[in-house]
Amino acid sequence: MADKAFYRALGLVNTRDMFARAMADGYAIPAYNFNNLEQLQAIIQACSETASPVIIQVSKGARQYANATMLRHMALGAVEMAREQGSAIPVALHLDHGDSFELCQSCIESGFSSVMIDGSHLPYDENVALTRRVVEFAHAHDVTVEGELGVLAGIEDEVSAEHSTYTQPEEVEDFVTRTGVDSLAISIGTSHGAYKFKVKPGQEPPPLRFDILAEVERRIPGFPIVLHGASSVVPAYVDLINRYGGRLEGAVGISEEQLRRAAQSAVCKINIDSDGRLAVTAKVREYLANHPEEFDPRKYLGAARQELVALIRHKNTHVVGSAGRA
Ligand code: G3H
Ligand code: 13P
Ligand code: ZN
Repeated sequence: MADKAFYRALGLVNTRDMFARAMADGYAIPAYNFNNLEQLQAIIQACSETASPVIIQVSKGARQYANATMLRHMALGAVEMAREQGSAIPVALHLDHGDSFELCQSCIESGFSSVMIDGSHLPYDENVALTRRVVEFAHAHDVTVEGELGVLAGIEDEVSAEHSTYTQPEEVEDFVTRTGVDSLAISIGTSHGAYKFKVKPGQEPPPLRFDILAEVERRIPGFPIVLHGASSVVPAYVDLINRYGGRLEGAVGISEEQLRRAAQSAVCKINIDSDGRLAVTAKVREYLANHPEEFDPRKYLGAARQELVALIRHKNTHVVGSAGRA
């Protein structure tokens, strides 16, 4: 009988073992979003060099941007590139913020090893029903599923939320039992994008709600938790962007100290997209400003890719703690 786990033909793995090991040893698996070749090359190079397991993830919009067929082959290329570099790091291909059963099904059939179904904006019972349906299909293909309870402020692909709603710990046990999800994204004060907090100059952003996380852990001990909106909005990149003609005012992220604390808890997956975007934009702006005669994309995208490698190595080694765990 043909293998029902389509992703295995691509050399990918699901997130089950990754999370079990991260939970046991107190670190988190980094989940880096990508949309293009240079981002994916940088993720694989940096994770190979730091011997880190990795989740490469795409949103619905990213899949449309890259083309679903192209993406499947990019994932295959990513696994083979890692092997060529002498590393056998585990790589999972994950759908970030899936918004329908059909999208999750399509991703699973084209080789994703993990999907998120984000019903967090739906009434509770509808979130349960939609998530359960995705889990049944996904598990039949040995694909792992991430659900979400609580709403993060900011843009989640086409779902945008003005205000965040913290996860209600009273709901988590019922949700994971009734849906059968493999991991749960929760809302404890992070948000998507580069403007996570409104703070006056010199003011510190409020701390994450570790009390909610602790209560969630008490109710579902040993269950893998996912933290979205976990970019630090690296100030050096914001400064570089603004120095070279950009305009990012009041961009603030999550401190590395808070992320390290989260990684040591039941948080097994930490999502990072905005920091990668900022690194690319900063380096492209800097390169083009300093080399006005240059028009070879390999030059400015190469500079951006190099910076991304440095950023990801830093995150793996000093923030999520996944370096050396492959
Ligand atoms: O959570 C959202 C991710 O950062 C993906 O963003 O929908 O613009 O690709 P995107
Ligand atoms: P950031 O915008 O903080 O990078 O969050 C990304 C994310 O949660 C993707 O799902
Ligand atoms: Zn997210």
